[in-house]
Amino acid sequence: MPQLARRMGRAKPSAIMAVAEKAKALKAAGRDIISFSIGVPNFLPGPHVYAAVREALDKDSGQYGSNRGSDALLDAFLKHAEAVGLGGYARKNVSTGIGAKHVLYNLAEALLDEGDTIAYAVPYWTTYADIADICNAKRLELPCPASQNYKLTPAQLDAALATKPKIFVFNNPNNPTGMAYTQAEIEALAAVVVKHPDTWIICDDIYNRMVFDGIGYHNFMHSQPSLRDRTVFVDSLSKTYGMPGWRVGFMLGPETVAQAVTVLNSNHITNIPEVITAAAVAALTGPQDIPARKCAEFQAKRDQVMAVMDAIPGLVCPKPEGAFYVFPDVSFAFGKRHGDLAIGNDVELCNALLEAKGVACVPGSAFGAPRALRISYTCPTAQLPEGLRRFQEFFAELQ
Ligand SMILES: Cc1ncc(COP(=O)(O)O)c(C=O)c1O
Repeated sequence: MPQLARRMGRAKPSAIMAVAEKAKALKAAGRDIISFSIGVPNFLPGPHVYAAVREALDKDSGQYGSNRGSDALLDAFLKHAEAVGLGGYARKNVSTGIGAKHVLYNLAEALLDEGDTIAYAVPYWTTYADIADICNAKRLELPCPASQNYKLTPAQLDAALATKPKIFVFNNPNNPTGMAYTQAEIEALAAVVVKHPDTWIICDDIYNRMVFDGIGYHNFMHSQPSLRDRTVFVDSLSKTYGMPGWRVGFMLGPETVAQAVTVLNSNHITNIPEVITAAAVAALTGPQDIPARKCAEFQAKRDQVMAVMDAIPGLVCPKPEGAFYVFPDVSFAFGKRHGDLAIGNDVELCNALLEAKGVACVPGSAFGAPRALRISYTCPTAQLPEGLRRFQEFFAELQ
């Protein structure tokens, strides 16, 4: 009997998707479920995006397209990047993919040989670990607990980069913690990064339009332009424009890297489809009021969620400044019970919360942080207070 490749023994289905599927099944069975699980922005793109799609359908060429992305798409993205202080690049510095996840996968294939090391902060977005495992790379995980606001310190980064990992992936604002780095914090980290020339830097900054409290979006390359030689900025339409299912992601960086990703596209996907490209161009170049409005709305929702987190005795929750997640440390509840359900860890806690209150959250262990759970607070505005009420009630009922 032929066997699957060894790499499949290391590949796991996405842990976040598993929770979402369970919540969906309970809902289909008639349970009243409020989902704080999957990280979707829960809004649709503006009418100009749909108008562009209709027009593209009318004049569809039906042909294969560019492996890098159409010129219109590359130009639109270059302008978009310029707006966050990453100007001065050309088309040859850009490549695209079927979402940022695909771009990150291509980057791993382009930059990592088997046995190379990829470093990143913990809690981490699950895919970094999954990609490392599939590529047979070593993971260098840098623990950033709630006690340090889930943020990487310069000393920690210095020690990690001194071991010369091939890639350092940095995610700001962060999924799952929602933390965003201030300008001073980014400058301090950039001053460390610049001292270690053997490591590629990938800034997975797909939430760069969702930063709260006026702290702004900051990138290592802003204070250390020389890092452009080995830093890749990753972006996506998914969260900014309410287009997760449209699957368009980007990279901006050194020409050699953009070329490598384009070669992989030529082997994997050939091109982003013409109609999707039209939607992407319209989103990037059209009115930007929806992302701005959504950012303000998410900030207000963050405040609603934090008011409840702060009111639960024992729960520790650094206040996030971006994206749409909060990541409370709920370890004070381990060893307690909810009714008949024993709570020994984050997975049991999330199961009990779903069973008892119909509230779906993702266990922190999916992000390498089993003391916590992730709340994604983009559910319909009317549902949020009820979900939070149930969440608070659950913790009050623990024995
Ligand atoms: C930090 C981070 N990077 C990348 C992605 C992937 O986004 P995309 O939908 O563009 O594949 C996500 C999606 O949740 C994310 O949270």
